[in-house]
Amino acid sequence: MSATKTMIEVRGLGKMFTLHNQGGMRLPVLDAVDFDAGAGDCLVLAGPSGTGKSTLLRCLYGNYLATEGSIRVRAADQWVEMVGAPEQRILALRRDVIGYVSQFLRVIPRVSALEVVAEPLRMAGVEGEAARERAAALLRRLNVPPRLWGLAPATFSGGEQQRVNIARGFIAGHPILLLDEPTASLDADNRQVVIELIHEALAAGRCLLGIFHDAQVRDAVATQTLALRPALPATADME
Ligand SMILES: Nc1ncnc2c1ncn2[C@@H]1O[C@H](COP(=O)(O)OP(=O)(O)O)[C@@H](O)[C@H]1O
Ligand SMILES: [Mg+2]
Repeated sequence: MSATKTMIEVRGLGKMFTLHNQGGMRLPVLDAVDFDAGAGDCLVLAGPSGTGKSTLLRCLYGNYLATEGSIRVRAADQWVEMVGAPEQRILALRRDVIGYVSQFLRVIPRVSALEVVAEPLRMAGVEGEAARERAAALLRRLNVPPRLWGLAPATFSGGEQQRVNIARGFIAGHPILLLDEPTASLDADNRQVVIELIHEALAAGRCLLGIFHDAQVRDAVATQTLALRPALPATADME
């Protein structure tokens, strides 16, 4: 690996779902996942649909609790273990260290697109007007028409919602940023904007981990690739 500053260190990570409404059937998804990623890295998660790429990102964001192993992230100058960390610690990491662009925008009723994008900066302590200006600049770059900025994104098209979500993910400059198929419903021009945003984030020393459906985007941004293995068959609970 390059001599960059390591930002995230994953060791022996496993995730098994227990399907309580199917007689306790166990579904192993991630097994013994190991990697490091550093400042300026864009680690691309590869593998066919259903291999656990989104599950891995959710574990890294603390949405899913890993069943085994360790996820350590650099927070300022101390290392924090995420697996089993208390909720308050996870929330603080999401505010200060780890950003996440989910595959679909979680729409909050009655909150305008501009406020949705500005919110992570507000949480980081940036004053309202300054945060809204940064949000407007990102929405403009992503070609979201100004007439939409004051509206709640619930009625936006899939591609418009995705661009709001991308702007919200990039705005606060989190040192670690997780991207789940951010360009899946974008046209070629907007895909290019996202590639540029990713390159700028890497040049600024951020650490990105992402899933990219589009091979052209993947080739343009990847500095490392992690191939996930297909899961083992599910096993019935024998107890
Ligand atoms: N909350 C959940 N409960 C049960 N099974 C899940 C859950 N989330 C994901 N899975 C299962 O984990 C497997 C991997 O899913 P996912 O991580 O979405 O794959 P990918 O993103 O690589 O397509 C799938 O079989 C999926 O059904
Ligand atoms: Mg997925």
